[in-house]
Amino acid sequence: MDFVLILLSIHFLFCFLHPFSTAQNITLGSSLTANGSNSSWVSPSGDFAFGFRNIKTNGYLLAIWFDKIPEKTIVWSAKVDALAEEGSKVQLTTDGKFMLLDPSGKQIWSRNLSEGGAAYAAMLDSGNFVVAKNNGAILWQSFDEPTDTILPTQILDLGSKLVARHSEGNYSSGRFELRLQSNGDLGFFTRNVPLDAINSAYLEIQSGGSGHQVKFNQSGFIYFDAINGSVLGLLSNKTSTSQFYQRAILEYDGVFRHYVYPKSANSIGGRQKNWTTLSFVPPNICTSVIQETGAGACGFNSYCQVESDGRRRCLCPSGYIFFDPDDEMGGCKPNFLPQSCDVESQEADHFNFSEVVNLDWPLSDYEHYQPVTEEWCKDVCLKDCFCAVAIFESNNCWKKKNPLSNGKLDPSVDRHAFVKVRNGNSTFLPPKLVGPKKDQTPLIIGLSSSALLNFLLLLLNFLGFNWFRKRNSKVLQLYKDEGSKKDSGVFTYKELEEATNGFKECYKEGKLELLVENDAEAMNDIKRVKKFVMIALWCTQVDPSLRPTMKSVLLMLEGVIEAPVPPDPSSFVDSM
Ligand SMILES: *[C@@H]1O[C@H](CO)[C@@H](O)[C@H](O)[C@H]1NC(C)=O
Ligand SMILES: *[C@@H]1O[C@H](CO)[C@@H](O)[C@H](O)[C@H]1NC(C)=O
Ligand SMILES: *[C@@H]1O[C@H](CO)[C@@H](O)[C@H](O)[C@H]1NC(C)=O
Ligand SMILES: *[C@@H]1O[C@H](CO)[C@@H](O)[C@H](O)[C@H]1NC(C)=O
Ligand SMILES: *[C@@H]1O[C@H](CO)[C@@H](O)[C@H](O)[C@H]1NC(C)=O
Ligand SMILES: *[C@@H]1O[C@H](CO)[C@@H](O)[C@H](O)[C@H]1NC(C)=O
Ligand SMILES: *[C@@H]1O[C@H](CO)[C@@H](O)[C@H](O)[C@H]1NC(C)=O
Ligand SMILES: *[C@@H]1O[C@H](CO)[C@@H](O)[C@H](O)[C@H]1NC(C)=O
Ligand SMILES: *[C@@H]1O[C@H](CO)[C@@H](O)[C@H](O)[C@H]1NC(C)=O
Ligand SMILES: *[C@@H]1O[C@H](CO)[C@@H](O)[C@H](O)[C@H]1NC(C)=O
Ligand SMILES: *[C@@H]1O[C@H](CO)[C@@H](O)[C@H](O)[C@H]1NC(C)=O
Repeated sequence: MDFVLILLSIHFLFCFLHPFSTAQNITLGSSLTANGSNSSWVSPSGDFAFGFRNIKTNGYLLAIWFDKIPEKTIVWSAKVDALAEEGSKVQLTTDGKFMLLDPSGKQIWSRNLSEGGAAYAAMLDSGNFVVAKNNGAILWQSFDEPTDTILPTQILDLGSKLVARHSEGNYSSGRFELRLQSNGDLGFFTRNVPLDAINSAYLEIQSGGSGHQVKFNQSGFIYFDAINGSVLGLLSNKTSTSQFYQRAILEYDGVFRHYVYPKSANSIGGRQKNWTTLSFVPPNICTSVIQETGAGACGFNSYCQVESDGRRRCLCPSGYIFFDPDDEMGGCKPNFLPQSCDVESQEADHFNFSEVVNLDWPLSDYEHYQPVTEEWCKDVCLKDCFCAVAIFESNNCWKKKNPLSNGKLDPSVDRHAFVKVRNGNSTFLPPKLVGPKKDQTPLIIGLSSSALLNFLLLLLNFLGFNWFRKRNSKVLQLYKDEGSKKDSGVFTYKELEEATNGFKECYKEGKLELLVENDAEAMNDIKRVKKFVMIALWCTQVDPSLRPTMKSVLLMLEGVIEAPVPPDPSSFVDSM
């Protein structure tokens, strides 16, 4: 008898101490603040939480996530133009409004609880966050407004959509969308960024007007059904048990994937404690996406490849580099000077091809020849300054021009790509760059109120006059006197090098700022200032063979080619 009582009280105590017993209805007047502390509203089981997630410095996302796993995987987020600043606040007001305010109190997101009468909000164990009336009637729920993810028991109605994020860690709207159209068809679309519009579908399940809902049921089936209940299409036919967390997401690469994660360490099935893919559509995103206008599955000038793990990669062809190394979907640019179209300087002998089997860029061709040989095909491309790539198949030859689109490397592509690249290593640089670096040889760069304009004037001076023969040029003077330069706005190569951190990513802002002191415009655009410094240094090379051509300068200014790190301009003088 006593024993039973003790058992009961222990049981009671455990209930009381249960970490999630605090989960309850969120009452009117409650709020959460984005300020680094881990404040959130958790579901009764603790599986899900609603609150702010710190994405980057001073950048918070109002989100719902799996709260019990170390990954804290986000399944929903409020669509706002920019991340919320520190000090932002989400609140359920006493008069029943649900809104997100920035630190100054300005409303940046809200949900119109039109019928009014909101009595409470709750984070449910399904991952659904609801705002409800006293009688339990739901006024707003996150399940009605999915971002890129759906969860078991969630349903997509006609007109609903999932929009992929920009990249793994960037929650802005990305390039793909899954939409249950109002005509009843289910389609995967590329988005016409930055517009909120869609292009043609890369995968579509047509219903002839009978399409109804996309359902994710508890056993893990994700299917598209008709009004009469018949299944029109399966997005995942792999079942799962209650021992796994589940989610299905339209990922930033355009693939819809069904993931599972074991709830406890001793879950059966031998799955590691991590999200693993159960199934995905489409089977090959690289060959699925073809855009009449647009880059395709990857960015312009890059190509798409599905690797053995089922993931797709975006790659640059040899001789090309990513515009932004952190954005694999951002496309590639040639890392060499384009071929001259001057009849006199046919540069054909400065170019060669890198051959890739099974690679093609459909829809970028501007000429087609047949029947021809591979040698003939390469030769005709080499002599054509427009030709960026030659594609050869049996006796067909296609010339492709920049920017290349819809690139894909796949065994099903029965073609050879010959990518034209400049011989040697890119740009205009002769190999004899490296000379002994001498410190403290000053050169004048007059920087005052408009540093950018000065840089440009400087460039024009260098290009317009054969100054290098005249050591006493007004624009550039070589001093040996340390003392006088500071007041007159004179900088040594070493100082410029330090200010730009070795011309690496022409950087220490504070130091470069010294060069453009009091020039607010230049300060705002300090990256460009650095580029101009580097180009100016190239133009001041005393050895004429090191100086870039006007064309190279223009290409560098436009960012078509990177400005390489300049050598110390004094080395040549000193060697004389
Ligand atoms: C939340 O509030 C509703 C309506 O007042 C009530 O029916 C429900 O029991 C409450 N739930 C909890 C966990 O307090
Ligand atoms: C975050 O904000 C809340 C509410 O203003 C406050 O109670 C809490 O102390 C703050 N936490 C930190 C770490 O600033
Ligand atoms: C927030 O939670 C994480 C993980 O539980 C923890 O490492 C971190 O220290 C917490 N931060 C604060 C400010 O409490
Ligand atoms: C909220 O909904 C009501 C009724 O649908 C509408 O009249 C009102 O303009 C809406 N308010 C906002 C801010 O959208
Ligand atoms: C996310 O990507 C968008 C689109 O390129 C960009 O404008 C935004 O700054 C990025 N956000 C973050 C936090 O990097
Ligand atoms: C989920 O859907 C599949 C296919 O319609 C069905 O066979 C299964 O019984 C459903 N499971 C549950 C729990 O509803
Ligand atoms: C349900 O609708 C679909 C599509 O309209 C049709 O093909 C199918 O025969 C219907 N099934 C039943 C049982 O009515
Ligand atoms: C399940 O889907 C896979 C491809 O996603 C397909 O190969 C397989 O035949 C399907 N199985 C059933 C029973 O529908
Ligand atoms: C979980 O999976 C992701 C993606 O596949 C991987 O990057 C990560 O390293 C994995 N984590 C662990 C702990 O295995
Ligand atoms: C071009 O490349 C091929 C193979 O990579 C090589 O055999 C050939 O010598 C190269 N031609 C020139 C002119 O560099
Ligand atoms: C081009 O540069 C790369 C790395 O910078 C180097 O490995 C390669 O040998 C260079 N090739 C030539 C032809 O100079």
